[in-house]
Amino acid sequence: MLINNWYVAATSKEVTDKPHRTRMVGADFVLFRDDSGMLQCLSDVCCHRGGALHRGEINGGCIACPYHGWEFNGAGQCTKIPALGDEVTIPKRARIDSYPVEERMGLVWVFVGDQSEAERPDIPDWFAPFLDNPDWRVTRYNYEWTDCNWERLCENSIDTAHPSFVHKRFGNRISPKWTTVPIETTEHGAKSARVRAAPAVSQKRGGIAEILPKDRKTTKVTLEWSMIALAEMLYQEMTTEITQVLFSVRTPVDDNAVRSYGFQARNFLKEPEHDAERLEALFEAVKEDHGIVRLLKPHHTVSSNAREMLIESDAMELAFRNKVEEWRDLGRYVDGEALEKNGRREVYVAPSPTRSADPKGWVHQTLPTLLVKKPVSAAAE
Ligand code: FES
Ligand SMILES: [Fe+2]
Repeated sequence: MLINNWYVAATSKEVTDKPHRTRMVGADFVLFRDDSGMLQCLSDVCCHRGGALHRGEINGGCIACPYHGWEFNGAGQCTKIPALGDEVTIPKRARIDSYPVEERMGLVWVFVGDQSEAERPDIPDWFAPFLDNPDWRVTRYNYEWTDCNWERLCENSIDTAHPSFVHKRFGNRISPKWTTVPIETTEHGAKSARVRAAPAVSQKRGGIAEILPKDRKTTKVTLEWSMIALAEMLYQEMTTEITQVLFSVRTPVDDNAVRSYGFQARNFLKEPEHDAERLEALFEAVKEDHGIVRLLKPHHTVSSNAREMLIESDAMELAFRNKVEEWRDLGRYVDGEALEKNGRREVYVAPSPTRSADPKGWVHQTLPTLLVKKPVSAAAE
């Protein structure tokens, strides 16, 4: 799991007038709306004796811990310790981490990390132009990838060779040969465009089977992904008039579960009565992927690429692994094993910008991360 990244913590609709708990990168967070309706995100663990803040009440823009009533404002500073009375000055150390939050596209984006505003990457809200756009009909969905590791899952969804085998509706076993296309690396990810053999119309069902030309030979597929929010956008141009666009972001809950938030836009069969059918096709594909990813061995991505036999068609997955390695070398890769080993006795929280701006005097320690030492170059010896 990576820190110093934007993740979608919840949908806007999920955060009502009650505190909302959300788990990301192996840590717990609480979201709540303050007096002005602004969303706030804090570590869910009270710095007094570990109360779960999401079980508490919202009081005058602060969240009150359910255990002994300490109150914390949106910046994470404790403003009230009932057992000490009103006269006492609250010690600075009575604080918890507070995280930047943005609401866009009906989603709540939280920056899980300690970079300052100037250092933070942009939110990949690539799908925004498709929303409230009469040319497109949009459906949205959430999905819980239980028993799946986030790296294995990301690799699966950018893998352009697996649909031939895994997906009934757009697979095409008669033409699984993969053709090499250039992969363009971007600031935070990569993209590619390919023309692949179209599945037979007989593999499609419902309304789309009726509108696709029977003699269709190819589909143009454009894929772009980013490490930021683990976002991915896929354009499927089935004909010049029939295009479907899929956008999703993935939030690692911990090392073994992922939540995804997705959108599907289509410029055909735009009437709402086709929504259920389009989503059904999507969930069928999602479940086909889930069945593969949860049984991969090892469960997490291998520690060395030499322990798998990668071929040319794995080029995009390799680009993803290289990016993960870059982030690991920057100290942003959470040590899931240390977390699992010590997590019953220790509280680990994601580092926050408030902490990096004022690093001394915190009760909780930050998530353990892997720091991989780069090999010493000959020149440096
Ligand atoms: S544990 Fe939160 S107030 Fe005591
Ligand atoms: Fe798939």
